[in-house]
Amino acid sequence: MKPSGVCGCRTPFLDRYLEKLPITLEDLSGKLILDIGGGGLYFAQEATLNYGAKIFSIGKDLSEASHRYALWVERANARRASIPELNALKYCLERSACTLAQALPFHDDIFDTVISISAIPLLLNSPRAILNSFQEAIRVTKSGGTAYFYPLAPVRRPEHRQKEQKRVYRALQMLTREKGIRITLLPCEENDPIGSGLKIPTQLLIIEKY
Ligand SMILES: C[S@@+](CC[C@H](N)C(=O)[O-])C[C@H]1O[C@@H](n2cnc3c(N)ncnc32)[C@H](O)[C@@H]1O
Repeated sequence: MKPSGVCGCRTPFLDRYLEKLPITLEDLSGKLILDIGGGGLYFAQEATLNYGAKIFSIGKDLSEASHRYALWVERANARRASIPELNALKYCLERSACTLAQALPFHDDIFDTVISISAIPLLLNSPRAILNSFQEAIRVTKSGGTAYFYPLAPVRRPEHRQKEQKRVYRALQMLTREKGIRITLLPCEENDPIGSGLKIPTQLLIIEKY
């Protein structure tokens, strides 16, 4: 397969994620990363395949990833060959858990980087749940590590944006009382990270732990 996109990896998916988050390839290579709301595990699979990142994914529902795995198995069987994408997805699935962002099943201070793309805080509907998920992400991040949440407002449903942003800002207000973190909100006018190419202003939340 031909390399593509900004980081020259083998499929376009990882490029799109890296465009959204201010992370470099060094931030992936050999690092321990938590992907919250991993969905189909596209990010985890690509980062594992291309950069040897060690990614743990969690999500409320991992059926999309299991479905994708079954499709890769079919492809491998049809080709009667081992396929690197299948091996990477298998590795990622073995390191994933069906669990909520508000109660992470990990010890404190273990991940170099935590990311949540199109998942947290978007899919939580109370400031308390949003705050819990931010606190959990901070708890499992190492000192010197960073957590990224993108986007803060729904890019596909701009009509809900104001209400959802209010919930997030309320949670962020409570979070500012926590010690040992630096919170940055970056405005972005970005394409939808995983789909339609809409150009709608939103924000990226960065929480650095020191
Ligand atoms: C739109 S998908 C995003 C998938 C992936 N991050 C991506 O960019 O392709 C949202 C994911 O968040 C997960 N999710 C929803 N609520 C959650 C929660 N409270 N805790 C953890 N994951 C959650 C869903 O199961 C789903 O897999």
